[in-house]
Amino acid sequence: MERVWIEDIGRYADRDVEIRGWLFNKRSSGKVRFLVVRDGTGFLQVVMVKGEVPDEVFNLYDELTYEDAIIVRGKVKREKRAPGGYELLLKDLVIHSKSLDTFPIPKVRPENIPDVGKLFRFRHLWIRSRKQWSILRIRDEVERAIQDFFAARGFRRFDPPIFTPASVEGTTTLFPVPYFDEGEVYLTQSGQLYLEAGAMALGKVYSFGPTFRAEKSRTRRHLTEFWMVEPEVAWATLEDIMDLAEELVVYITERVLENRRMELEILNRDVAKLEAVKRPFPRITYDEAARILLEEKEKGRDIDFTYGEDFGSDEETVISERYDRPVMITHYPRAIKPFYMKPDPKDPSKVLCVDVIAPEGYGEIIGGSQREDDYEELLRRIREEGLPEDEYSWYLDLRKYGSVPHSGFGLGIERTVAWLSGASHVREVIPFARTPERIRP
Ligand code: 4AD
Ligand code: MG
Repeated sequence: MERVWIEDIGRYADRDVEIRGWLFNKRSSGKVRFLVVRDGTGFLQVVMVKGEVPDEVFNLYDELTYEDAIIVRGKVKREKRAPGGYELLLKDLVIHSKSLDTFPIPKVRPENIPDVGKLFRFRHLWIRSRKQWSILRIRDEVERAIQDFFAARGFRRFDPPIFTPASVEGTTTLFPVPYFDEGEVYLTQSGQLYLEAGAMALGKVYSFGPTFRAEKSRTRRHLTEFWMVEPEVAWATLEDIMDLAEELVVYITERVLENRRMELEILNRDVAKLEAVKRPFPRITYDEAARILLEEKEKGRDIDFTYGEDFGSDEETVISERYDRPVMITHYPRAIKPFYMKPDPKDPSKVLCVDVIAPEGYGEIIGGSQREDDYEELLRRIREEGLPEDEYSWYLDLRKYGSVPHSGFGLGIERTVAWLSGASHVREVIPFARTPERIRP
């Protein structure tokens, strides 16, 4: 009997197969008993009919408890009413290993149990549930889509280091790590500075890896360890990478809609909202966004924003409510953005940067900019920020030897997956989330 994965079951209609997995759920209605078996690739309804299987197999039903490891054998049947469109008519069942204790996560709507902390304490088991399984499969699709997107456009993957001696995104969110005779180095906040070197060597590059921020923010959008994809392009202007960002977000969304329909359905995601994600995205300046906030405040909304400050989560949500797709906000004040961003030649109090804000309150998914490419200007900014000049000398070299305009951005994987899957918190879209209060399991 051929051993198959549930995901491939459609190719085996009317044939006898073996599935190896776990008991997800069971229910009985008299002479017919139903098992839901999961094998990691999917969930399958298995039907046992009294008289059609040997009695000793039929009676195993009573012994079965959640998450027992089992092997089922039987005939694949097309069944419209079964979830997934197929079911297995059981012929034989083997209990490979029994659960030693009651499974700690409820089988029905675990997301509805009030104690979220309990779910996260059992994260290693919770990921077996239907919704968490769906989210992690959407994450996988997003990650694959990103790599396909860049490969198809001639980008080379370039892996920056994780241990770094200096900051990229401000010195307040660095994680120090003891490092031999060096004393302290840091976990990277972003590979950007190294990617700029990569772009000068390989033209179009991107990185894809974990990044770290010692941010104590307890919001639905912040992790201390998160994954970022960062493209960097030589000779590209702000407009060029805005087009790239727009194309990337549309491509990822289309791929999820194309290949992860079932998962979106399990998550009750309103797909009409994702289908609206088409080019072009609205493009507004910081000043225009600030005006929107002012208008909303005049209408009586509770908005705590002063011109010149960065937008917080609440402000981003208010701005995004005006649009049915991500909105791109450009030209933020120089004072609230990092040292490497190039000032706008038309108004040097602003920088050539872009934040992409997702719809439905998911906040900033992309931050990017055109980089300062003038040696003297960059040196001046490094000094102004009080950054250790010698640590950035290699970075300044990129402006010394054939400096060219160049631009790039970073897309946060967790914020993107949270938005696409409709998850309520970014900690649900990474296998094992790291936050200020959670480092286990
Ligand atoms: O806007 P950020 O800080 O940009 C950079 O790091 C640039 N150096 C990227 C570049 O130009 N190459 O971060 C980029 C994105 C954010 O838009 C957000 O999606 C995500 O990374 N992000 C976080 N995600 C989860 N938890 C956090 N604490 C995050 N901080 C940033
Ligand atoms: Mg940002």
